[in-house]
Amino acid sequence: MYNQPMLRDDALKEKTIVVTGGGTGLGKAMSTYFLKLGANVVITSRKLDVLQKTAAEMEQETGGKVLAVSCDVRNNDEVENVLKEALKSFGEVHGLLNNAAGNFISPTERLSANAFSTIIDIVLKGTANCTLAFGKHWIKEKQAGTILNIVTTYAFTGSGYVVPSACAKGGVLAMTRSLAAEWGKYQIRTNAIAPGPFPTKGAWDRLLPGEMAKKFDFKNRVPLKRVGEHQELANLAAFMMSDFSSYINGEVITIDGGEWLQGAGQFNGLEAITPDMWDKLEQMIRSTK
Ligand code: HXC
Ligand code: NAP
Repeated sequence: MYNQPMLRDDALKEKTIVVTGGGTGLGKAMSTYFLKLGANVVITSRKLDVLQKTAAEMEQETGGKVLAVSCDVRNNDEVENVLKEALKSFGEVHGLLNNAAGNFISPTERLSANAFSTIIDIVLKGTANCTLAFGKHWIKEKQAGTILNIVTTYAFTGSGYVVPSACAKGGVLAMTRSLAAEWGKYQIRTNAIAPGPFPTKGAWDRLLPGEMAKKFDFKNRVPLKRVGEHQELANLAAFMMSDFSSYINGEVITIDGGEWLQGAGQFNGLEAITPDMWDKLEQMIRSTK
């Protein structure tokens, strides 16, 4: 049942939600579910052709209204234009899903300064640009708003080989908690989701290229022995965007099948011990007085 939709059909009715990076991968999955729940959705990213194709597909599948606006989240004028276009089409905006990201694996010593900055600019500064534009608008209009940021579990653990992304996502997590406290008084809720592995072309091509996908199979890192289903994330994102979560503010919700704890617990590697070996080990331990 884990790929079933969770909320009732009108859970996002009359809401307009802007999704950065909404044309592909997880952004597309979350946007599609928002539409099924009655929301209008604005999808943005750099590639207008991809957005337009996705928008047409989503409208056909859900019967909802989708506006596609090209926007590089690093460019403030383009971000302001998304807000303008969203208001022009739908009158009001109620939610912002900061989902756009850039990432690739690399030993950190191989990165140029520009490579490092590129990831920080997209993930941390891009999220800040969108958050500022929409937050200021809501504050000026005295209107409530919901900000949902997609981070990762290594936003709190850190991770080698994706260091710019870890720094940027860690910054987004700090922004999430900071603004929850500061902007709560304006009825702006700010939360985050930290997904574990959810296969998408964008992430897998850059994080598990070629043979890596087989050699470093994420399933084996997850206690539940599977990767996430897009609908599982969409269910959580829709709940966090909806009024059903209206008292949740400043939270980061992990949805990773237990992956990061599996990596963290000192003795979790003992999973490799077979029952026969446990018999011998138990004898050895019991004989130690
Ligand atoms: C080292 C690299 C590199 C690589 C790019 N660079 N790829 N350095 N190893 N593999 C360097 C370039 O040489 C350049 O530095 C700088 O980075 C910027 O590269 P550009 O190609 O000019 O940048 P741009 O066109 O802006 O593209 C951004 C991008 C690209 C991040 C590099 O991959 C992209 O567009 N990504 C968007 C989608 C994405 O990344 N999706 C995955 C999200 S997954 P120099 O010095 O040469 O100028 C995710 C999952 C987390 O976040 C957890 C999963 C489990
Ligand atoms: P994806 O399909 O590559 O999504 C990234 C999106 O960001 C793309 O639509 C891309 O579109 C957009 N984007 C990139 N740079 C941009 C920029 N400068 N301005 C505007 N948009 C930009 O990968 P995904 O797996 O769905 O990732 C979605 C989110 O989930 C990301 O925040 C990622 O960090 C997070 N996440 C994913 C996983 C996973 O397992 N998949 C795990 C943890 C967290 P354009 O190229 O058209 O700009």
